[in-house]
Amino acid sequence: GKSGYDHYMLKEIHEQPVSLRQCISGRVDELDGRITVEELDDLGAPETVQFVACGTSYHAALYGAQLLRAAGIPANAYYAHEYATAPAPVSGDDLVVGVTQSGETADTLSALREAGGRGAETLALTNVVGSTAARESDHVVYIRAGPEIGVAATKTFSSQLVGLNLLTARLADRGVERRRDLVDELRGVPSDVQAVLDESNAAAVVEEFVDADAFFFLGRGLDYPVALEGALKFKEITYEHAEGFAAGELKHGPLALVTANTPIFAVITGDGEAARKTLGNVKEVEARDAPVVVVTDGAAEAGQYADHVLKIPRTDERLTPLLANVQLQLVAYHMAARLDRAIDKPRNLAKSVTVE
Ligand code: M6R
Repeated sequence: GKSGYDHYMLKEIHEQPVSLRQCISGRVDELDGRITVEELDDLGAPETVQFVACGTSYHAALYGAQLLRAAGIPANAYYAHEYATAPAPVSGDDLVVGVTQSGETADTLSALREAGGRGAETLALTNVVGSTAARESDHVVYIRAGPEIGVAATKTFSSQLVGLNLLTARLADRGVERRRDLVDELRGVPSDVQAVLDESNAAAVVEEFVDADAFFFLGRGLDYPVALEGALKFKEITYEHAEGFAAGELKHGPLALVTANTPIFAVITGDGEAARKTLGNVKEVEARDAPVVVVTDGAAEAGQYADHVLKIPRTDERLTPLLANVQLQLVAYHMAARLDRAIDKPRNLAKSVTVE
């Protein structure tokens, strides 16, 4: 049942501290700072990694590819439906990772089969034990999020992000990983998420935008997939027009859409160059009178330029995007609840897309 929540989606959002704890259980060792993914003991050291995925899982894949590239491993993310018909060059030295909650998405299965047929090693990052992707791939890593009933993926996305950090740690160091900073911060993620859930003002913020024309989500670097995911979740369950943009592309077109009636949700985490530049984009949309909501850990003083701030705890910059996404899950949920939408079963959508 829904355990007292109005919707499965809200229940699953609130389950994240538990599902994330399950995901890291036995895999990150506090005492010696090791990250171990037992399922990958027999995985070699691939030269490149290609991700194939759809929807929310594709957004996780975009994030994963960035993590790997930052760790020095060439990696790219592809829409599974594109990959199946226009595959990237691949050989036996490459790893193709299907990111798929259900393990049953037809396009992702086709892409994995295509890659395997051309000699690549394949890996399924999935939630469902014994799913087709798990059975057909050379390797499988389970994200252990527990069953997800809501059509909108929530807790499985955050567990995918953690799973991708585990995979990156495993591949970057080829075996035993000693990176205490990430281990400590990974162990802190469940309580960081709990803090977001306890303190979020998302419900009050969306109340101001019930009559908006459209909703735009901006981010760059690791915050870009979060912006895309924020917009997907929002359109999926509110039926309002929502788009995610790469903040750096704003001036190359999307800015033409920005008005006083298009709220902008800017994801700005960390205090690096990316955060500083997105802050510049926030100033540009403000100059067009757009209402601005900044999702931030506060490091970039982003709050000063925002009408509203959705605050997240500070942690390792690889993990703040996960926390920012929790705020955007709540934004989508509360707007959909306010508009009285069919949150757990949005019109026209199925939980798993088993035809191409
Ligand atoms: O089971 P999968 O992760 O392969 O599913 C992929 C997409 O169909 C899925 O993420 C979809 O986009 C969700 N409904 C998003 O909330």
